[in-house]
Amino acid sequence: SQNIYILGIESSCDDTAASIIHNGKILSNVVASQKIHEEFGGVVPELASRAHQQNIVPVVHQALKKAGVTKNQLHAIAFTRGPGLMGSLLVGTSFAKSLAYGLNIPLIDVNHMQAHILAHFIDEEGFEKPSFPFIAMTISGGHTQIVEVKSHFDMTVIGETIDDAVGEAYDKSGKILGLGYPAGPEIDKRAQKGNPKAFQFTKPKVEGLNFSFSGLKTAILYFVQREVKANPNFIEENLNDICASIQYTIIGILIDKLKLATKQTGIKQIAIGGGVSANSGIRQALKDGEQKFGWTTYVPKFEFTTDNAAMIAIVGYLKYLEGNFAEQNVTASARLKI
Ligand code: KG4
Ligand code: ZN
Repeated sequence: SQNIYILGIESSCDDTAASIIHNGKILSNVVASQKIHEEFGGVVPELASRAHQQNIVPVVHQALKKAGVTKNQLHAIAFTRGPGLMGSLLVGTSFAKSLAYGLNIPLIDVNHMQAHILAHFIDEEGFEKPSFPFIAMTISGGHTQIVEVKSHFDMTVIGETIDDAVGEAYDKSGKILGLGYPAGPEIDKRAQKGNPKAFQFTKPKVEGLNFSFSGLKTAILYFVQREVKANPNFIEENLNDICASIQYTIIGILIDKLKLATKQTGIKQIAIGGGVSANSGIRQALKDGEQKFGWTTYVPKFEFTTDNAAMIAIVGYLKYLEGNFAEQNVTASARLKI
């Protein structure tokens, strides 16, 4: 039987990550998160690129060491080709190309958005793999997409955001409320202690399966400014209720679109991914959907759902099995589509 070792490398945004996969099982999954962006309240591309350059060699070393694998045992190198920040992608791409060339092994290019979805195919105890076809919803600080997945590499985007990503809606709302970056986890924590019906925010009207979150952010900004004018302590006195109301609105938007997606496609299997899939509200809503609408839902292990290299490695493995390799002249692509 086969005995395949693949190194996966991810550098599309602000996390430098490397992972070793042995067949379908992850042996190591190393992520160096860049703290530098916290003080700016968002990712600064130039700083991200420089941090990737500093992190990439130690992160890859660590991934090999933790896996107990030497570079000479590797069968292929998989890397994120896009989408993402060009300066960040270039670091991972050039590194992967050089290493594959040096070791004389195949190079495998990976689409980051496909990887978020195919992370569900990592062998992991206690986690079931979705069967085809299924609907994937990828929700994070950088992306919001609904994808119809017919097979590993036959996917169609059926909905996506026309402006901000859902994680951005969380982070920008947090900024308005004076919370740290990224604000998603804290809003989620406070939401669980607040009243979701305390304040109403109107949901954006976007046709079909597309999303829009920039109007919601503006509505929250105006609402908070108005209330603070009347009561300077408004935010601190109502923080949990404000967070609960924001979360209620956002989850409502996501669930409405999922309902529409299942109706349009007739598919009731739903797999979610991306950092926002950690959210307690979306997890509960998906569970409720199993009861109410007969959905089957899949949420991957947390470390495979935020930006990571294990998801790049699993795509590398799946492509390796098909003999689907990249040429040495492959280039990074900031706007790569599924
Ligand atoms: O996947 P990720 O680590 O990186 C990318 O953006 O690609 O996602 C990070 C995003 C941030 O916007 C963060 O605020 C959000 O995920 N997030 C959450 C939660 N945990 C992380 N949003 C809502 N609730 C959470 N529990
Ligand atoms: Zn991502």
